[in-house]
Amino acid sequence: MEPYYRDDLVTIYNTDATHLAFLDDASIDLTITSPPYNLDVSYNGYKDDLPYSAYLEWVALWARALYRVSRLGGRACVNVPLDTNKGGKRAVYADYVRVFLAAGWQYQTTIVWNEQNISRRTAWGSWRKPSAPFVTAPVEMIPVFYKQRWHRPDAGKHWSIDARDFQDWSLGCWTFPGENPRRAGHPAPFPEELPRRLLLLYSYVEDVVLDPFLGSGTTCRVAKRLGRRSIGVEVDPAYCERAAAAARSEPLPGSEAIRS
Ligand SMILES: C[S@@+](CC[C@H](N)C(=O)[O-])C[C@H]1O[C@@H](n2cnc3c(N)ncnc32)[C@H](O)[C@@H]1O
Repeated sequence: MEPYYRDDLVTIYNTDATHLAFLDDASIDLTITSPPYNLDVSYNGYKDDLPYSAYLEWVALWARALYRVSRLGGRACVNVPLDTNKGGKRAVYADYVRVFLAAGWQYQTTIVWNEQNISRRTAWGSWRKPSAPFVTAPVEMIPVFYKQRWHRPDAGKHWSIDARDFQDWSLGCWTFPGENPRRAGHPAPFPEELPRRLLLLYSYVEDVVLDPFLGSGTTCRVAKRLGRRSIGVEVDPAYCERAAAAARSEPLPGSEAIRS
């Protein structure tokens, strides 16, 4: 398939990521992604409002596709909500873990992203009564999965995380704010800090990184800044254009910036 955009480090495909048929088996080292959450977000070209069981069946399809394209020891970091209230309380994170395990992935850990977003806190349930109070956690989850083995050999590879960051980020509760949708030109972007930490913690400079739900292009932009090759897939041409513009304006990093 012809890419929508390509430079020395970034390749973007404007297509549906469900089956990833255009990617080779065992070609990806690290996936970082935030899929549509089925919360009726107004994306340009995608209806984010499936019945919940159909949504999970769709997640199972791309979780299997991701498994196929991942190398042995490949990793997948999937940013999802803890739960939702849409159509009744749903433990979305727990369902994702179940679906990914059924697709063949092994579970490594979960990073809790403390987004500190309490502005959406409007429903109390039963105010000051135990009859039906609502408890909401202002966090998102990033379960981390791997294909068959966790340990990856270092030989011939380079990496670039410093001691302080390693110490801080290996405590799995991360606190930083979300991204402003207006600034990103996308209704549901994640902030650069999210892929930045995951890239530095979980990838070698020589790795190939995939984001199958690229949106405004955050993963590819940050991967390029850190000298990693990346592939982004986005079904909507307007978001693809945004992601391509972001990649184009990101200069190639100097080698001293990306290698230990
Ligand atoms: C939560 S957003 C990702 C945002 C991204 N992390 C960012 O920082 O901008 C999910 C994206 O998936 C895209 N999408 C939905 N269904 C898709 C599919 N089947 N294949 C590829 N992309 C899809 C949507 O258009 C949307 O841009």
